[in-house]
Amino acid sequence: MTGSRKLYVKSFGCQMNVYDSQRMADTLAPEGYVETATADDADLIILNTCHIREKAAEKVYSELGRMRRLKEAATADGRDVLIAVAGCVAQAEGDEIIRRAPAVDLVVGSQNYHRLPDLIARAKREGKAVDTEFPLDDKFDHLAAPSLASSRARGVTAFVTVQEGCDKFCTFCVVPYTRGAETSRPVNKILAEVERLADAGVREITLIGQNVNAYHGAGPDGRPWSLARLLGLIARLPGIERLRYTTSHPLDMGDDLITAHGDLPQLMPQLHLPVQSGSDRILAAMNRRHTRANYVAVVSRLRQARPDLALTSDFIVGFPGEAEKDFAATLSLVGEIGYSGAFSFKYSPRPGTPGADMADQVAEGEKSERLQRLQAAIDLSQAAFNRDCLGRTFSVLFERPGRHSGQLVGRSPYLQPVQIEAPPALIGEIAPVTITEVASNSLFGALNSAPEPALAGAGA
Ligand code: SAH
Ligand code: SF4
Ligand code: F3S
Repeated sequence: MTGSRKLYVKSFGCQMNVYDSQRMADTLAPEGYVETATADDADLIILNTCHIREKAAEKVYSELGRMRRLKEAATADGRDVLIAVAGCVAQAEGDEIIRRAPAVDLVVGSQNYHRLPDLIARAKREGKAVDTEFPLDDKFDHLAAPSLASSRARGVTAFVTVQEGCDKFCTFCVVPYTRGAETSRPVNKILAEVERLADAGVREITLIGQNVNAYHGAGPDGRPWSLARLLGLIARLPGIERLRYTTSHPLDMGDDLITAHGDLPQLMPQLHLPVQSGSDRILAAMNRRHTRANYVAVVSRLRQARPDLALTSDFIVGFPGEAEKDFAATLSLVGEIGYSGAFSFKYSPRPGTPGADMADQVAEGEKSERLQRLQAAIDLSQAAFNRDCLGRTFSVLFERPGRHSGQLVGRSPYLQPVQIEAPPALIGEIAPVTITEVASNSLFGALNSAPEPALAGAGA
């Protein structure tokens, strides 16, 4: 057996990267790599990168500057350090990374993490290794599953990737190029993973995918299953109390999925349903393939199924051709839907996407000004949503210790963080909490009463 070596993985970007980072650590554990929380003493550093906006991609190169200095210091001490770049920048820029950042030893694209042990050996042997092919086999078939111990250490909520890649080709977006074509994992594999997580004490599962509601994985019957059907099956597993899924495209919000929001008590009443713009002209230019009215209709059907559904979204301001009246339509949509929160971004032209070549790019100053106005509207909407929570009682899943001793942080069904005075033994439990105070990004509450003791056997 090889002696233990230290692995430091840093994730940028979306939850899919967080999930992949954990799978990489699980895959390297049998090779003798133990995770460490800082880069300083690591033998292998993996940066799992994001390419979605220019800023995200540039952040990687500044981080690589820092890692190069660490590596030089280690070399001076006679210690070998390997630097690996994984994720979407690796996929998009491949060899160019090694040219720009010579301290990098290996580059591994988003679909090749199961080949990491081989790549590490190759980098040690040959000096450098790059693998950014889109393989025909599914990386999840080869990546190690989380051990019971690592699942436990990771807490009471977990992400599970069920779908990867995207065939939508929105004209602003790199994901179809960095993650490849849309694929879904088979139901049985997902079920086995969720069962293991439940055994490790996980109570809340978020199914994730770049386009999660396009899920169509093979069911046990060999036929494609919808996301609604998959959710229905997972909801029946003992121990799994809460379900969520993200991120969805409005076009794939099927009837059975909408109905599931009314039928499945485990499915939490919060949905991230990005719309990007409130203007039909811009939606068409973005190739979103739906109108504002289509989106509003989907939201209204969802709210018929689940009247207290909280909605969040992503918005892009300053897409090419966006005039003031298009932006005004986005602002009015924020008012019309009443979001519980949203992310908003300035349009960032990405090399290789159709948007980058469009003629009527919006000036940077204009984008900044619109972003500020949009963020103000979103903040108002979020504050109104949070204010309505005052005095109400929610079931809260206690996730981790809070900043102050004696405090725990949990999540409301609507995904708001809730801070409560409660003993650490309640981590992993769900209990009713009355909201006593509301801040811009979190709620404060008091336990209604001691929660019921855990069922015999649970958490063992
Ligand atoms: N699959 C998801 C989004 C993935 S990317 C969906 O379809 O909604 C996350 C968010 O980043 C997007 O919703 C979008 O708002 C933003 N984004 C993507 N490309 C961008 C770009 N080129 N410039 C600015 N924001 C972008
Ligand atoms: Fe990107 Fe559009 Fe696919 Fe979302 S649906 S990942 S925004 S191309
Ligand atoms: Fe970024 Fe890739 Fe996710 S570009 S947002 S890490 S899919």
